[in-house]
Amino acid sequence: MAHIGLIGLGVMGQNLVRNMARHGFQVAIYNRTRAKTEAFAHEHPDPNIVPTYTLDEFVAQLERPRRVMLMVKAGAPVDAVVEQVRPLLEPGDIIVDGGNSHFTDTERRQRALEPHGIHFLGVGISGGEEGALWGPSIMPGGPREAYDAVAPIFEAIAAKAEDGEPCVTYLGPGGAGHYVKMVHNGIEYAVMQAIAEVYDLLRRVGGLQVSDLAAVFEEWNRAELASFLMEITAHILRVKDPESGDPLVERILDKAGQKGTGKWTSQNAFDVGIPVPSITAAVEARIISAFKEERVRAAQLLPGPVPEAQGQNRLQLIEEGREALFADMVVAYAQGMALLRGAAAEYGYTYHLADVAKIWRAGCIIRAALLEDIRRAFAEAPDLPNLLLADTFRQALGERQQGWREALVAGLTNGVPMPVTAASLAYYDSYRRERLPANLIQAQRDYFGAHTYERVDKPGTFHTEWHQL
Ligand code: 6PG
Repeated sequence: MAHIGLIGLGVMGQNLVRNMARHGFQVAIYNRTRAKTEAFAHEHPDPNIVPTYTLDEFVAQLERPRRVMLMVKAGAPVDAVVEQVRPLLEPGDIIVDGGNSHFTDTERRQRALEPHGIHFLGVGISGGEEGALWGPSIMPGGPREAYDAVAPIFEAIAAKAEDGEPCVTYLGPGGAGHYVKMVHNGIEYAVMQAIAEVYDLLRRVGGLQVSDLAAVFEEWNRAELASFLMEITAHILRVKDPESGDPLVERILDKAGQKGTGKWTSQNAFDVGIPVPSITAAVEARIISAFKEERVRAAQLLPGPVPEAQGQNRLQLIEEGREALFADMVVAYAQGMALLRGAAAEYGYTYHLADVAKIWRAGCIIRAALLEDIRRAFAEAPDLPNLLLADTFRQALGERQQGWREALVAGLTNGVPMPVTAASLAYYDSYRRERLPANLIQAQRDYFGAHTYERVDKPGTFHTEWHQL
């Protein structure tokens, strides 16, 4: 009998099946279109891969409690498949949604399935196609007992960090798993945009050729910036367009797409009341990029500095770019972690931030050398209100302060937009300011709406008849 069944043979689904089969698990597979199942089974003849062509046949292959994993598109397709498979299941069986579902959809599905005795796990899976095949980072949430029933499979197929630990752990009830995956993607957006900003700055103001930049990023990837996103960026910069011989990246239309997980992070952060300005800036940078035609017109109409390679101080600018990128990365993780802490309190999630950092150390898109330091910071001080306050990061940002600010100044002076860098530095400066100008905001609110204010020199609530003064 099959240990688990998987529905949805897109690339992610196929690669997860191959990963499970390689680890000795027997997997029943089903896909809406028969041809896809046939083609996959034909390409990968393996006694551990059991093709089925009806849902009845599929369910009949599964040992109990039945474990049914869905790898279908988030949204309506998940509801449709759940609807089809549910009547074939029995109390105690488990459905696992491995897609990028919104955590509130996951919680709705859990509530709907509970009366039938069917457990529903919302599981974030990161690492793209390669990760799915060779070891993703897995972020599961839902009923604990259901997780325990799939844990041996997940632990076997997950990426292993340098210390050998699998990149999976139970994150808590409800939509905790999909929530953590959503925040992972928010951080992913901020880090990607921060890298793009430094690429832009060094290219336009530093005058670096793309191949020089590839060498710079390769070097950075060997030290404290070591991360999957740096690694692929350095590689991307090396790839030439076969037609023109130019760097392929320069031939790619500058309109960024998005499927929504970064946007969800910002939207939910507003609800939870935790600032994530770097993530929001990254989402908005993608949105503004999509207005290509309007930007082309505005480029002719709006005055301002045109980025121009300066040539001088190139080495210094490169160093400043490196420091800015490191600081931006730390701030992106700090905001994501602060949001996870806020959400745990709001929704009753039980994950520890050290464990989240731990399972992000390998397999996922935001894996980075930095994550071991982040894990350690939260392991040593589980109640740390913000990552920026951890000794390591306090010191690291202190040392990179000057370069961080100078890189942003270079962008501002030359008309190179650096929205994530600007938002990250403003976040840092706001967080470290004892006194912010919110006193004036309170006065304005009290002026036009009698919203009252508190004072710094005595307790109580006050209102002033401003008009009469
Ligand atoms: C991952 C990725 C993955 C994905 C998203 C992001 O962790 O493996 O985050 O889930 O690439 O689809 O996509 P968008 O950039 O299209 O929003």
